Amino acid sequence: MYEITKVEHLVDKDWLMVVKAPFVAKKCEPGQFLIVKLGELGERIPLTIADYDREEETITIVFQVVGASTEKMSKLKAGDCFTDVVGPLGKPSEMIDTPIDELKKQSIIFIAGGVGAAPVYPQVKWLHAHGIEADVILGARSKDLLIMEDDLRKVAANVYVCTDDGSYGDKGVVTDILKKLVNEQGKKYTQCIAIGPVIMMKFACLTTKDLGIPTIVSMNPIMIDGTGMCGACRLVVGDQVKFACVDGPEFDGHLVDFDLAMKRQRQYKDEEGRAMLALQEGATHSGGCEADK
Ligand SMILES: Cc1cc2nc3c(=O)[nH]c(=O)nc-3n(C[C@H](O)[C@H](O)[C@H](O)COP(=O)(O)OP(=O)(O)OC[C@H]3O[C@@H](n4cnc5c(N)ncnc54)[C@H](O)[C@@H]3O)c2cc1C
Ligand code: FES
Repeated sequence: MYEITKVEHLVDKDWLMVVKAPFVAKKCEPGQFLIVKLGELGERIPLTIADYDREEETITIVFQVVGASTEKMSKLKAGDCFTDVVGPLGKPSEMIDTPIDELKKQSIIFIAGGVGAAPVYPQVKWLHAHGIEADVILGARSKDLLIMEDDLRKVAANVYVCTDDGSYGDKGVVTDILKKLVNEQGKKYTQCIAIGPVIMMKFACLTTKDLGIPTIVSMNPIMIDGTGMCGACRLVVGDQVKFACVDGPEFDGHLVDFDLAMKRQRQYKDEEGRAMLALQEGATHSGGCEADK
């Protein structure tokens, strides 16, 4: 069992948890994820490692309530336990294996959309710890949905905030800011790392392709084992099929087939809806109505 040592409600549907997981905390690097399971019959939920403390033997996760399992997770309190925490999974970010001298020659910009700010944070923090200051564009639908701004400001060179409705920072989407920085302020970036909803990463990549900036994205397809055994997480990248859990989750964004990825992400919509109904109303309708069969 893995004890939750801290629970913090960030905004709206976003929660932060610190979990005692000595093995994961000892080995994990930025870019990697873990899988948590709640109860013997619970499903496996992949989540990016948002932070870690090797001495305290803890990891931090930030998750958004989008369905039955994450809703159940949001009811947990400090002192409760996950049945399983498996990780670290996936490959660390490319930067971890890049010589620091090489990284210092680069000018890196991160694009964080919504809850994507959480996986961006450990990467910016890691760069900062190695003497490299990156820029960050942080976007959300509105001011009250913005997370991790203060944390990011402590480790980034500049944080540019935008909201879709203009309630805070610039009004507009993350790609508007990137275009403004490059085309109007003359900023030159040699690397972009975009993490957030798949649709945001798709449009970020279309923009960076136009601007000629190589771009890495962190993909979040449906996963089951997370160890390369089933192919549920497969994606098409360039002309190859890749398993996000072992080949990724980070990929060259200019090669990812985003439309296919979005289609595959929707494949269990009916089952997910039923699971949420079962959680809210009991099992009565969760199997579907007799008349529908
Ligand atoms: C590598 C990776 C890292 C992730 N990191 C984060 C993170 O840091 N924070 C965060 O909030 N979310 C993250 N996710 C997404 C998170 O796993 C899903 O939101 C969660 O599994 C939804 O479960 P649910 O039962 O609440 O929702 P459901 O009702 O089951 O599903 C809602 C939506 O979540 C997605 N989803 C469902 N099951 C899975 C699954 N097993 N694997 C992936 N996606 C699924 C589907 O697109 C679905 O449409 C990550 C996913 C992956 C693959
Ligand atoms: S989740 Fe099964 S191979 Fe990736």
